Amino acid sequence: MTTKVRSLVDTTHGYVNRKIFADPELYQQELEQVFGRCWLFIGHETMVQNPNDFMANYMGEDPILLVRDGKGKLHAFLNMCRHRGNRICRADYGNAPSFMCTYHGWTFATDGKLVGVPGYKEAYFEELDRSQWGLVEAGQIGTYKELIFATWDKSAPSLRDYIGDAAYYLDFLVDRREGGAMAIGGVHRQVLNANWKFGADNFCGDTYHVATTHGSAISAGVTGTYRRMGFNPNPDRVSSAPGNGHGILSAYVGADPKSAPMSGWRPQMADYYEQNYPELEKRLGVQKAKQGGVNVATMFPNFTWHSAPLVRLWHPRGPEKMELWTWSIVDKAAPKEIKEIMHRNLTLSFGPAGGFEQDDMNNWIQCTGSAHSGNAQKYVIHQTMGLGHERKSELAPGVLSGSTSETNQRAFYDRWAEMMDTPSWANVKISPRTMS
Ligand code: FES
Ligand SMILES: [Fe+2]
Repeated sequence: MTTKVRSLVDTTHGYVNRKIFADPELYQQELEQVFGRCWLFIGHETMVQNPNDFMANYMGEDPILLVRDGKGKLHAFLNMCRHRGNRICRADYGNAPSFMCTYHGWTFATDGKLVGVPGYKEAYFEELDRSQWGLVEAGQIGTYKELIFATWDKSAPSLRDYIGDAAYYLDFLVDRREGGAMAIGGVHRQVLNANWKFGADNFCGDTYHVATTHGSAISAGVTGTYRRMGFNPNPDRVSSAPGNGHGILSAYVGADPKSAPMSGWRPQMADYYEQNYPELEKRLGVQKAKQGGVNVATMFPNFTWHSAPLVRLWHPRGPEKMELWTWSIVDKAAPKEIKEIMHRNLTLSFGPAGGFEQDDMNNWIQCTGSAHSGNAQKYVIHQTMGLGHERKSELAPGVLSGSTSETNQRAFYDRWAEMMDTPSWANVKISPRTMS
């Protein structure tokens, strides 16, 4: 039995009931209807490069193991022994030909098969059908340019259709140079007492907060050479809601490429981008190449990328708690020193102690607190910015708005309500791909 949430999410007028950020029952519904059915980012191919490499992650609250089996095939398994439910692997990452449960010793191969059962003869009298008790596997797994996604739902649309036109913008992160991208430096993890949607919502297109929230960090030099210029200073720099609940900031749809700033926060990063701009143009095309300046996005529900450069996951951990996982992601072809500068740039800005990160977190904790308190919960969240000022362009896909707008947030919550209320994927609208 699911609660209908459409009455709580009015994206036509831009109001959202605060209850959706704190209600325990809605949270359970969210785990099933959203995290149990959507495509979720689970890793990058470079994190599990060799046969029998594995990495622990989560899909919603479910611990999973991303594994490349002995034959090189990728799997997403529930990290749960089929006997009593102990985790079959406690390590964060590594390489192993099999996983032995530490409780009674059931052992699973990297393709998920149950291959070892202590006492199989003497205690089970060879009557246990081992072929039925392999690891639980995600319904589907797929990749887009080495980014790995999985869904529990076998009936979910194809990964490519799910990503839709967001792929156009994702290319600015993973298809800049020959060889694509790679993850480096391990994962930053942190727990915060805020609802996961506040993070996803912020990164799907909240330019509005930058000047206020991050004003002192910018003055202190966290962003290096990049400076915030004010609200919608350039009408040709736009946010895009490309469909399916995803939100991107930003694209450049003007004629003058000099108006499209590069995303380098450090002088060395800016030089590197400039030097390799001809390659970017060659790969993505002249028009598209100039659109990839400062790029930050959320792919519904909880996968974010940013030109810091990073990829991250807003893992739900309860209605008022989340765990945030962040990785550096860089061009494979970049020189070692540039990779290091980018990794340091991410750590200084969006690492757990990063200048930007600390600013953001406290705001989301306070917003979650307001969603919890009885009286504050009577008053809706305000999300009307840019309503009625959306537009289309043949130069970039999606519903476009000024770079400071709440169009993307409305699209995000609209899809959230649709997933919460709709029993089957057959009734969920999938936006057609237009330019990707
Ligand atoms: S719980 Fe894993 S072998 Fe018993
Ligand atoms: Fe921020």
